[in-house]
Order: sequence, then C-alpha cells, then structure tokens
Amino acid sequence: MSGFFWWGIFPYICGTILVVAAVYRIVFRGISWHAPSTEIFEKKWLRVGSLLFHWGIIFAFFGHVMGVLIPISVYEAMGVSDHMYHVFAIAGGGAAGLMVVLGLIVLLIRKMTNPKVSVHASFADYFTVIWLLLVAGLGTYMTIIYNTTVVAYEYRVSIGPWFRSLFTLQPDIQLMEGVPFLFQLHVIFSFILFAAIPFTQLVHMFSFPVRYPARAPQQYRSRDGYKNSRP
Ligand code: HEM
Repeated sequence: MSGFFWWGIFPYICGTILVVAAVYRIVFRGISWHAPSTEIFEKKWLRVGSLLFHWGIIFAFFGHVMGVLIPISVYEAMGVSDHMYHVFAIAGGGAAGLMVVLGLIVLLIRKMTNPKVSVHASFADYFTVIWLLLVAGLGTYMTIIYNTTVVAYEYRVSIGPWFRSLFTLQPDIQLMEGVPFLFQLHVIFSFILFAAIPFTQLVHMFSFPVRYPARAPQQYRSRDGYKNSRP
C-alpha cells in the first residue's frame, strides 16, 4: 500500500475508531469501563511488573512529548545541541524503554503461568500485553541499538513535524517517506494500538484518578466487631 494511505489516511481511521468506540463504550457499556484487577490471585509479580511498566510508560510518554511534540526549533532557541539532545534521549529514553519492556515481560509470564490469572485472561488481555510489548520493544530497540549502531536518527525533523501535521488535517506525507522502516513500523503499530484501546482494558488510561485524593473516605465496618478478623 502506498505512503499516502499509511501516513495520510490510516492515522485518521485509527483515530476515528478510537473516538467512536470509546464514546460508544462509555455511553452504552459504561459499567465495563475499567481494568479488572487480578491482585486477589497473585500480588508479588503483579506489583513488580505493574510498577515497572507504569513508571516506565510515564517516563516514555514525556520522552515522546520531548521528541515528537516539541519542535526542534525550541531546542535550538534554548541552546540545546543535537548531540546533547541525543545523549539525553538515548540514556533517559533507553532506561524508560527497558522498564516498560521488562515490566511487560513480567506481566506476560505471570498471565501465562499463574493458573488463576490465566483463567481470567481474555483474548483482549493477551493482545494488549503482547502488542504493547511489540510497540515498546521496537521503540526501545530503536532508541538503544539503532541509534548507537546505525545512526542517531533525527526524528525531530521527520516523524515529529509529520505527527503534528496530522492535527492540522493536512498531513505532510512526504516527511515520512525516507524514515527508516523500523521507525515507520513503530508508528503504524502504535496507531493500531490506539484503535484497539476502547476494546481492551487500556480504556482505564482515560480515567486517570485525578479526583481520587480528594474523594470522601470510605469507611469499612465489620458485622461482628472484627471477631473473625485475623490480627
Ligand atoms: C504515533 C505515536 C508514536 C510515535 C510517533 C512514536 C515515536 C517514537 C520515536 C521517534 C521514538 C524514539 C526512538 C529513538 O530514540 O530513536 C520512540 C521510542 C519509544 N516508543 Fe514510541 N512512538 C509512538 C507511540 C508509542 C506508543 C503508543 C508506545 C507505547 C508502548 C511507545 C513506546 C516507545 C518506547 C518504550 C520507546 C523507547 C523509549 C523512548 O525513547 O521513549 N511509542 N517512539
């Protein structure tokens, strides 16, 4: 398929699926808008995997803001040289990527090997972890291996402005034509992930618990004055 499809049409198809299916789910299937916890079945590895993944993805998110959303001209105006940027991006992005990948591997192994967890895992749950692993694995490979063995690829003059041009509804398709294949794959796989969000437990990312600290505390009372509770 041509570059026009992948860089000028495909992102909008995925964006439309994301918005329409997410609105449908919250309006008609609101009660399913969550990520069911399996903590009750296994705690230790969930904690390790989930903490690594979530902290890693938060750092990687800010890495994407720095590399894709902030124009290179801002760095030039601030006197940040290309070399300084790439050293920081490879070290910081590499560490974040490794955390994400490691966390996902722990979560996947736990899902596959713990019988109580696996019996509750749906196709969508497996798809989520495996696809995230694919996208994050590619990103981490690009950051650590490609950048240091092939070339410190300057995506701030290609992928960055192309991604921002999507929001003006005038995608600059040519910017993506000469991008290395692995980077193109990372972007296409990411858009597939975006389209899949409303069909998976990833929807919970839109319910970031910003009001949680301010909510009224819940009181728990025992029916029997805690006679049967363990110390
Ligand atoms: C269309 C959206 C996206 C674009 C344009 C994009 C682009 C990029 C670029 C340019 C890099 C830097 C590679 C380097 O340093 O050479 C990267 C790295 C990475 N990406 Fe993405 N990405 C997108 C979505 C995602 C998503 C949804 C994930 C979630 C799994 C993800 C995970 C990663 C990770 C873990 C890294 C390595 C760490 C880092 O540099 O932050 N990316 N991505």
